[in-house]
Amino acid sequence: MTEHDWDALERQVIQWIKEAGTQLRASLLTPLEVSEKSAHNDLVTNMDRHIEKFLIEKIRAAYPGDRIVSEEGFGDGVADTDGVLWLLDPIDGTLNFVMQKRFFAVSIGVYEEGEGRAAFIYDVMADELFHCISGQGAYQNTKRLATLTSVTIENSLIDLSATWLKPNRMIHEETMTEIVKRCSGTRAYGAASLELAYVAAGYLDAYFTMRLSPWDYGAGLILLREVGGSYSRADGQPLNILSKTSVLAARPGLHHFIAEHVRKQIQSGKFICEPDGGHNH
Ligand code: IPD
Ligand code: CA
Ligand code: CA
Ligand code: CA
Repeated sequence: MTEHDWDALERQVIQWIKEAGTQLRASLLTPLEVSEKSAHNDLVTNMDRHIEKFLIEKIRAAYPGDRIVSEEGFGDGVADTDGVLWLLDPIDGTLNFVMQKRFFAVSIGVYEEGEGRAAFIYDVMADELFHCISGQGAYQNTKRLATLTSVTIENSLIDLSATWLKPNRMIHEETMTEIVKRCSGTRAYGAASLELAYVAAGYLDAYFTMRLSPWDYGAGLILLREVGGSYSRADGQPLNILSKTSVLAARPGLHHFIAEHVRKQIQSGKFICEPDGGHNH
């Protein structure tokens, strides 16, 4: 395996991701080709595929020995975390991209032997890049992010989407009621990578979601760890970076509080899915 120069890699990826951003902004000036994947709210556009191909070509040319896990199918079939793995989402927040033309991101997380090494989450319309090389501090553009401190549930702003109210919900309506009632407020922005970056930046205190894929959370978790944030499956168990899984990301103490709450809900039979995001019926 070739040794990576992580500082050089950071410079390269920032160049690629900014170029992807320029293409994405330009694409919004003409009509997009939009099609449905699994459902009416699961969309893919010509740009999701184009940007994935664009970035994969760059990665493969520069790092031919690395493997890529990506959403739209141009990556590799990967079943283990050996070597260097790139977790890539060309557009995270496709529904926002199509419907709002804002609040979507390009997300790239790089792991070596299963350990997070570099993260890049680019909010294209805000021209805001959250990034880190692990061990060197996390940044929002050029501003260094502070280490996360704890907060009480009462003083917290929590991001959770209302998917448990949907017909294909994975938890009961009442599972999160106590959390929602006690916290300062809730938000749901619709782009997991940015929501994780917002927890890392201290703009949100927690992010809770029942099912994400490796490309959604790959970069966000690396960024979060760099600033002392905690993450796990919804029930507090460690998550496997190659799985579709629930994700709970938060400031350290708040993470424990929410994970304990979820564990009690599971014990009382209120969960209708496994905390790894799989249905148990
Ligand atoms: C989606 C977004 C959304 C999350 C979904 C993801 P996509 O990614 O991150 O916020 O709730 O689970 O699939 O499909 O827009 O890349
Ligand atoms: Ca998608
Ligand atoms: Ca995504
Ligand atoms: Ca995507």
